Amino acid sequence: MAHLQAHAVKQITEICERYKNERTPLMMILSDIQKEYGYVPLEVQELVSTLTGVPVSEIYGVVTFYSFFSLTPKGKYVIGVCLGTACYVKGAQLVVDKFAEILGIQAGETTEDGLFTLDVLRCVGACALAPAVSINGKIYPAVGVDQCAKIVNDLREKEAE
Ligand code: FES
Repeated sequence: MAHLQAHAVKQITEICERYKNERTPLMMILSDIQKEYGYVPLEVQELVSTLTGVPVSEIYGVVTFYSFFSLTPKGKYVIGVCLGTACYVKGAQLVVDKFAEILGIQAGETTEDGLFTLDVLRCVGACALAPAVSINGKIYPAVGVDQCAKIVNDLREKEAE
């Protein structure tokens, strides 16, 4: 645990304490860590394992299964393109490719300035609005490749304000 700073250890210990009386606290603990700490790297998983007794392999399995969790820090804006069936047939892969080209990263990566993460998602429950894009949880409907640059520019301008 040497590479985790003292304040991070304290923060994660507090989160684990929060749910110590729950029967199955792991998802709640990991969700709070993702929200408050920003990501769930291996050293954090090891600490959670020590504090809760849940094997690291089990924690790693949960973190890597759900796209909500991240092993690396996410950008300020998380652009999630839905690749569920309804979105896929309406060209969502082209939208992923366009965002990747504009941002200079691949899906799952974060820009060097820490501003954008590009993710691919499974159905986000907005199939009638396909292809759907979620940016920090807000759904952008029927996004075409011709709209990607404007979406990114608008967010960059918002940052510059
Ligand atoms: S498949 Fe994309 S929102 Fe359902």
